[in-house]
Amino acid sequence: MPGGAANTLEGMADSPVRMRPEIAALPAYKQGRQAVADGYKLSSNENPFGPLVEIVEAVARAEVNRYPDATGPALRARLGERFGVGAQEVHLGAGSVALLSQFLLAVCEPGSEVVHAWRSFEAYPGLVTVAGGTGVRVPLLPDARHDLDAMAAAVTDATRAVLVCSPNNPTGPTVSLEGFTRFMDRVPSDVLVLLDEAYAEFSRDPEAVDGAALIGRWPNLVVLRTFSKAWGLAGLRLGYAIGPEHILDAARAVAVPLSVTGQAQLAGLVALDHEDLLLARVADIVETRGRLVEGLRALGFDVPDAQGNFVWLALGERTAAADDVFHEHGVVVRAFPGEGLRISIGERESVDRVLAAAAALR
Ligand SMILES: Cc1ncc(COP(=O)(O)O)c(C=O)c1O
Repeated sequence: MPGGAANTLEGMADSPVRMRPEIAALPAYKQGRQAVADGYKLSSNENPFGPLVEIVEAVARAEVNRYPDATGPALRARLGERFGVGAQEVHLGAGSVALLSQFLLAVCEPGSEVVHAWRSFEAYPGLVTVAGGTGVRVPLLPDARHDLDAMAAAVTDATRAVLVCSPNNPTGPTVSLEGFTRFMDRVPSDVLVLLDEAYAEFSRDPEAVDGAALIGRWPNLVVLRTFSKAWGLAGLRLGYAIGPEHILDAARAVAVPLSVTGQAQLAGLVALDHEDLLLARVADIVETRGRLVEGLRALGFDVPDAQGNFVWLALGERTAAADDVFHEHGVVVRAFPGEGLRISIGERESVDRVLAAAAALR
């Protein structure tokens, strides 16, 4: 048809281009609903506080016409000092999700298995598939904690990595130091264990594992942290891994070059300079979390131990309808249909709105 749809991309869903079948079968990334006017976006576990002026100034100082030194020597040295390791035992990524991807690419080959809890971080299954591995999902315990004994038992000769998420996104509880130690002692030392502590700074659980204190204790342990959550730099994309140099070298080998920007590195250094201020904000978020959990429990909801900057409501089949109710109240949450809702801890003022929506569900 002259001038018609022939030159558009419409109708090209049946593209002749050959794809890896497991990739073609993956759902394309779908971002959550955007915030409604006058509402609260509590769907991505973001930090509600805007950047410090010093961080904005640091970002403005970066020379955007030059490539960054993407290995980030100054920031790695600083993080190394902080965690009592050498700069070579620290590796930076464009968010910790990039690091997860690199480590999985480094260890997986066709037939490799990657054990992780489920439900856990929604990116895990896709990252494993893209790396060429097969995910082995181990159900959470009834209190929404990792079942570390079952995870250790799920390790086979085919296992190349185990992902442990503490506090667990989206359910909230941490993994205990005692449970993690027992788990690590059972997992063979040729299986990489990635301890994903994206939300560690929000935890107030005295029993929780603290990856920073365990560095060097097992040769197969790598700890992942991020500047996205507690440090409020999600938009700049900056995460880091701490672990044995030869494992980090494998991640460096598969990393997309130059993906950690100069802005992100400068912002990370300035954030560390202002740690007290930023951790005071974290304390504020923890206080807001306490009010929200208390309010939800008073309404009769069974809320698992919330140690991240989010709470979990296991609403099962009522999830999709509940998502609509929150949306009508101007609150955007993350719904996992058939399972539950995750509500991020946002502005202090958001608590009343969230509780009003929750009350409408009773
Ligand atoms: C458990 C967990 N790990 C890692 C990430 C990745 O965060 P980023 O790539 O922003 O560092 C997230 C983000 O939501 C997360 O929830």
